[in-house]
Amino acid sequence: MLSIKGIEKSYTIGETASPILNKIDLHVEKGEFIAIMGPSGSGKSTFLNMLGGLDTPDGGDITVDGKAIHRLTETQRTLFRRDHVGFIFQNYQLLPNLTVAENVAFPMHAARKDKKEIKEQVHDLLKSVSLEGKEKNYPSQLSGGQQQRVAIARALSMNPNLILADEPTGNLDRRTGTEVLRLLSSLHRQNQLTIIMVTHDVYAASYADRIISLKDGVIESDIRQTEGAHHDGMASLLAKPNS
Ligand SMILES: Nc1ncnc2c1ncn2[C@@H]1O[C@H](COP(=O)(O)OP(=O)(O)OP(=O)(O)O)[C@@H](O)[C@H]1O
Ligand SMILES: [Mg+2]
Repeated sequence: MLSIKGIEKSYTIGETASPILNKIDLHVEKGEFIAIMGPSGSGKSTFLNMLGGLDTPDGGDITVDGKAIHRLTETQRTLFRRDHVGFIFQNYQLLPNLTVAENVAFPMHAARKDKKEIKEQVHDLLKSVSLEGKEKNYPSQLSGGQQQRVAIARALSMNPNLILADEPTGNLDRRTGTEVLRLLSSLHRQNQLTIIMVTHDVYAASYADRIISLKDGVIESDIRQTEGAHHDGMASLLAKPNS
């Protein structure tokens, strides 16, 4: 579903160009749950943003579902993001002046979907992230974990093929982070969603099927976790949620 060949990116500050990504190749199958790890500054966010068409590489090819996204115009990339990718960020990025329901509905309104359909969809999405009854709350009236669940519902609203998450548990404590990881993991299993998640946290990465480490601009390791090593077993032992 996702194929990356020879991706390069460098940033030039003043006279000096620093390479960030140095000819990266990666192939992702539909339905994989991948964690991307690596030291701070190793280019994880840059890489993720490129996969979602938020940033462009200097060289190389990125194909998502047969679409060569590095060749799209700005407008085409905006539509590609809207229709194919759900983003989840560390700081949730909810719109503070919109209610929970309005935040989730936002991408669907932007895509001019039918109002009745939107209403039903918002209801189903909020149910799937266990936030029924919070429709009229504002983001500031929710806990961090609840806000992230709203962001997940919003990310799912356009029925994306690909979920890109940058440190989705970075602002959450272990227990709330675990809720979010369990939710992502169950969405991944139930809907065969392809998820690529950047994380610093080995515990969060344990939920993924495959862990890719970036270092010095290249993929340092690419490890598939055997069934059972990742999760709920191990994760719930580690988490000890409020017994
Ligand atoms: N717009 C920019 N201009 C110049 N340099 C940039 C820009 N964006 C990122 N960089 C540099 O690219 C490198 C990679 O940044 P990136 O944000 O991808 O790292 P990261 O692995 O996500 O780090 P962290 O774990 O701290 O979030 C860093 O050295 C950063 O300073
Ligand atoms: Mg980052």
